[in-house]
Amino acid sequence: MADKGKFQAIKGVRDILPPDSALWNRVEQAARDVFGTFGFAEIRLPSFETTDLFARSVGEETDIVSKEMYTFDLNASYDLEMRRDLFLGKYISDPYDVREDEHQSPDESDIQASRFIQVIENAMKQERVARTSDNVRAMDHLRTLHTQFHKACETYRDSFPVSSAQWSIEMIQMLKGMQSLASQLTFGSNVSLRPEATASVVRAYIEHGMQTLPGNVKLYYMGPMFRRERPQKGRYRQFYQIGAEVLGTSDAPGIDAEVIEMLLAFFERLQLKGAVLNINSIGDKNCRPAYVEKLRAGLQKVREQLGADSQRRIETNPLRVLDSKLESEQAIIEKLPRIAEHLCAECKAHYDEVKRQLELRGIAYQENWRLVRGLDYYMRTTFEITAPGLGSQNAVCGGGRYDGLVELLGGPATTKGIGFAIGTDRLVLSLQEAGEGEIAGGLDVYLVWFGVPGQAAAIGLAKRLRDAGFVVELPAVEMKFGKALGLADRLKARHAVIIGEDELAAGVVTVKRLADGTQQKLAEPELFSYLRASRE
Ligand code: HAM
Repeated sequence: MADKGKFQAIKGVRDILPPDSALWNRVEQAARDVFGTFGFAEIRLPSFETTDLFARSVGEETDIVSKEMYTFDLNASYDLEMRRDLFLGKYISDPYDVREDEHQSPDESDIQASRFIQVIENAMKQERVARTSDNVRAMDHLRTLHTQFHKACETYRDSFPVSSAQWSIEMIQMLKGMQSLASQLTFGSNVSLRPEATASVVRAYIEHGMQTLPGNVKLYYMGPMFRRERPQKGRYRQFYQIGAEVLGTSDAPGIDAEVIEMLLAFFERLQLKGAVLNINSIGDKNCRPAYVEKLRAGLQKVREQLGADSQRRIETNPLRVLDSKLESEQAIIEKLPRIAEHLCAECKAHYDEVKRQLELRGIAYQENWRLVRGLDYYMRTTFEITAPGLGSQNAVCGGGRYDGLVELLGGPATTKGIGFAIGTDRLVLSLQEAGEGEIAGGLDVYLVWFGVPGQAAAIGLAKRLRDAGFVVELPAVEMKFGKALGLADRLKARHAVIIGEDELAAGVVTVKRLADGTQQKLAEPELFSYLRASRE
């Protein structure tokens, strides 16, 4: 017998079951509706990308990239490794130094080289060998060198009476060069499950040349993200985000404010209560480095009073110390230098205007100088929204401006960006905690039928009711009256509609309202109006 309970969802991931899934759908639909009214359109992105994309954008030193990504080799490349070994091993690095029977002629080497090049080129086409700049360069040189080698073989054959080419010093050198290039190639391509989606949106923006589109490019997305974090309430290893990004040449603070306005409009649509908006500016590449040094110096002075994590971050990323939730560090952090006092004139003006633009929209905010965010691509505006009912994982949304990211990933330097991502799991939790999670709906009609003609009539009626949008349950086998009504009750159906011999003869159905047991006989058109009225 199969071992009961043998398969379980792995740690940190979970199933979202009905009726919760109905709330998830409502949340996602509200996002589509509200974001749509702000001119945003959906982008659907792959769930995995090259590891390098996340390392470059989110940042090699961040927790997300350094500890939390699920990374794997897309294509195990043992066969290519073997080919290369063969290529290197069979090639004689010094043809004068081997025994006669192992001696490989230049013509044979020529053929092997061209085979090797072909195999690697094919593997590159299939993306089994990554098109990194190093690989592309090595392959270009290898091809050039091989062409020269091939020519040398031919020249040799043309100039000497013997039918095959013989090794010359130059040919041996070329051979060694080809070997060295072959050994420089790196096979396989590391990919990671996406820990977030901003990097993917920017990659897609560049890949599809979206900078040529008119106006700002406004995109939203929703779907699972993956981070190997310690699971707890509101923190999962597969979690879901609903995010939006604006990409374009303008960095006008009005864009920042409108993105936040849209976010709050969405929360309002869902009647999420108690959301608090925190904002900050973390400067740009002109003013932040000097601030980081001041902060580092300040931290050095109090090093001994800090925990091990914060001590390490003094060197790696002092800004992240400001994120610390350690009780013992709070009073110390409050006395550290603050970014607001070190912003350059441009960043300060931008931040002031963001605040004015928020006020224009009647949006209440709290300034939080410690809001630095855990991803490297941010500059200037950062924001986070907290919601009640979530315990320590109370950030339901995070976002900010990332003006240098498009350029960093190889796109136009003129494109700026800003966006946010909502943690859908947390949003749903918060709505449920506040009692906003109840979804009206459920079963309108449970059909009870008797006899073969009764079933035929019930099948027809079920189809017409469903076509009209009613939720109908049609039992596949005939049931005793009491049993059928009992099930209808347990399924929380609003009505039982009964089709028996008497009803068929009279051309009506019996409708029983299960809440109070009232019952009446109705013809089909009356049934439809009755059901419609009882929905309102
Ligand atoms: P983030 O702050 O890393 O930002 O994530 C955004 C939100 O995702 C968080 O506020 C939280 O609600 C949710 N979240 C993150 N990790 C988990 C987890 N392990 N379990 C459950 N929920 C989680 C970003 O991802 C940026 N890409 C946001 C952005 C978009 N910035 C600009 N554009």
